[in-house]
Amino acid sequence: MGQVFKRTDLCGELRAGDVGREVVLNGWVAKKRNLGGLIFCDIRDRSGISQIVFDDTTAKDVFELADTLRSEYVIGVRGVVAEREAKNPKMPTGDIEVQVTALTVYSKAETPPIYIKDDDNVDESLRLRYRYLDLRKPKMQRNLAFRHKVAQVTRNFFSGEGFLEIETPTLDKPTPEGARDYLIPSRVHHGSFYALPQSPQLYKQILMVSGCDRYFQIARCYRDEDLRADRQPEFTQIDMELSFVDQDDIIEIQERYLKTLFKEVLDVDLQIPFPRLPYDDAMNRFGSDKPDTRFGFELKDLSDLAKGCGFSVFANAVENGGVVKAICLNGCAETYTRKKIDKLAEGAKDYGAKGLAWMKVTADGVNSPIAKFFDEEQLRAITDRMEAAEGDLILFVADSWKVAVDALGFLRRHVADTLGLLDPHQYNFLWVTDFPMFEYSEEEGRYLAMHHPFTMPREEDLDKMLTDPAAVRAKAYDIVLNGVEAGGGSIRIHDSEVQKLVFKALHISDEDAEEKFGFLLEAFKYGAPPHGGLAYGMDRLVMIMLGEPSIRDVIAFPKNSGAQCLMSGAPAVIGQDQLDELAIRTVAGNQSSEEAESFES
Ligand code: AMO
Ligand code: AMP
Repeated sequence: MGQVFKRTDLCGELRAGDVGREVVLNGWVAKKRNLGGLIFCDIRDRSGISQIVFDDTTAKDVFELADTLRSEYVIGVRGVVAEREAKNPKMPTGDIEVQVTALTVYSKAETPPIYIKDDDNVDESLRLRYRYLDLRKPKMQRNLAFRHKVAQVTRNFFSGEGFLEIETPTLDKPTPEGARDYLIPSRVHHGSFYALPQSPQLYKQILMVSGCDRYFQIARCYRDEDLRADRQPEFTQIDMELSFVDQDDIIEIQERYLKTLFKEVLDVDLQIPFPRLPYDDAMNRFGSDKPDTRFGFELKDLSDLAKGCGFSVFANAVENGGVVKAICLNGCAETYTRKKIDKLAEGAKDYGAKGLAWMKVTADGVNSPIAKFFDEEQLRAITDRMEAAEGDLILFVADSWKVAVDALGFLRRHVADTLGLLDPHQYNFLWVTDFPMFEYSEEEGRYLAMHHPFTMPREEDLDKMLTDPAAVRAKAYDIVLNGVEAGGGSIRIHDSEVQKLVFKALHISDEDAEEKFGFLLEAFKYGAPPHGGLAYGMDRLVMIMLGEPSIRDVIAFPKNSGAQCLMSGAPAVIGQDQLDELAIRTVAGNQSSEEAESFES
């Protein structure tokens, strides 16, 4: 093999204006057709594809070498750009081809186990197993380049606003609240563990105490949670913290950032400021703390109309302190047959609903199995409240407030998705504010911090902290995009008396607090500025911007749903000598090395 042909152009960038130029291209053989005395090849690099040609004007040795080319061979060619006879308007380079004069084969390739094309429909586990081939696909290359651009714009924007990019440790202290930690055993201190950070939360607050004023970082975070389409065990946050600010200052900067980001990478003009919705309104109107506002079907409360009505299910729910809520699915009366409504009811049951009542508004009045329990006037009051017109379907859930909003929130999203109402090119941002400070955990039998224990409660709620924790609202906010929590943050507590009160409400003792986050509390004794911040899930943001269904498609090397890297085989069994060094004995004993090597493919 000879030397590397020095590239003059990228494969995807040649145009009619280049005709007559001598060029050198490097890349992979995407396709080859041998038509006897004529060989056409497509050569691919990350910018795209060019057609190259070998014919009777090509030197014999070059033509013979061209005949040996197969898919995914890595080659270099020198040649002259010529106008194509049969132009291909579907390809950006479809007007030209390169008449090859010299060819070198840098490396050969075995037949790839997956096709290098976007719509290969292959099982995802195979894509992850051969990720290096998967990443050669045009779409994946585009996604990686897009993500790079998001990172660039982000760095530029926050630097321009006076933020310093500061790295924080990945060998961290185990965190007591939040998701499960990934732990790293210490070789030097047997029995002690580092944790991989779930976020840089405590360090970024310490940086504010250090006087750094404004910090940001594109930070890797690790959480040992059950995985979903928008959750990975390791993911990336665009993380920041600011001193001497209140909620409005933080929100204002984020709005300018997102506007800049969407303009620069998508050429989309976002309207700012974004709407703000207190948590209670989000739940009452959309049945979700991350509402998708690209479509209607808002929840309405009918409890006052249901009180003492003839339908005992409704009347009893209200009697017992619950609610009757409903959504109006416009134009859905015909689409949703009884059978389909039964299917919806099954879905609602997963959210705890005991049933799903319905009414269809038809030309002959209300059609519903429960219509008989209401008189004309009551029916009119219901359809009026729901703003229902002929052809609409109303779905009702009578239950506790939480079950009713959760179930209807699910139905609202589910129906919109089924009916194809979700336009991926519409970007609906909104802020959800005034989150509850605490949520009750049945499992632990105590209140837990909904965001984290360093979140500042609203001043007006401080006196309810111990008497009525459920009523305390926090200075916490989420940024929601198309029904996805794209980011979240809060104003932090910088007053030790308030912090003590919060720990007390959480039943965290002084000793526990000292042991778990003593270093933060200690730092606060030496002068803490008022501060707050926010972190975006960068993977989620990029996923939505690209219209991808999963964050795995915007991460170079993601884990599968079993938290494995199918390419490298992580996690892996380790040898006894390594375990001994760490003074660790595994309960199951060590697996055989054969088992260790065979991972799911
Ligand atoms: P939070 O826990 O809300 O806040 O995380 C911030 C954002 O990170 C994204 N995210 C995830 N993305 C992919 N996979 C995951 N497993 C995952 N978990 C979270 C979400 C989320 O909105 N330190 C605080 C922020 C702050 O208060 O400043 C924090 O980590 O998009
Ligand atoms: P039943 O009287 O139990 O046969 O219920 C009549 C209708 O009310 C059925 O469509 C049920 O699905 C519905 N239903 C039952 N319980 C509830 C509930 N808690 N909320 C809303 N609808 C309900």
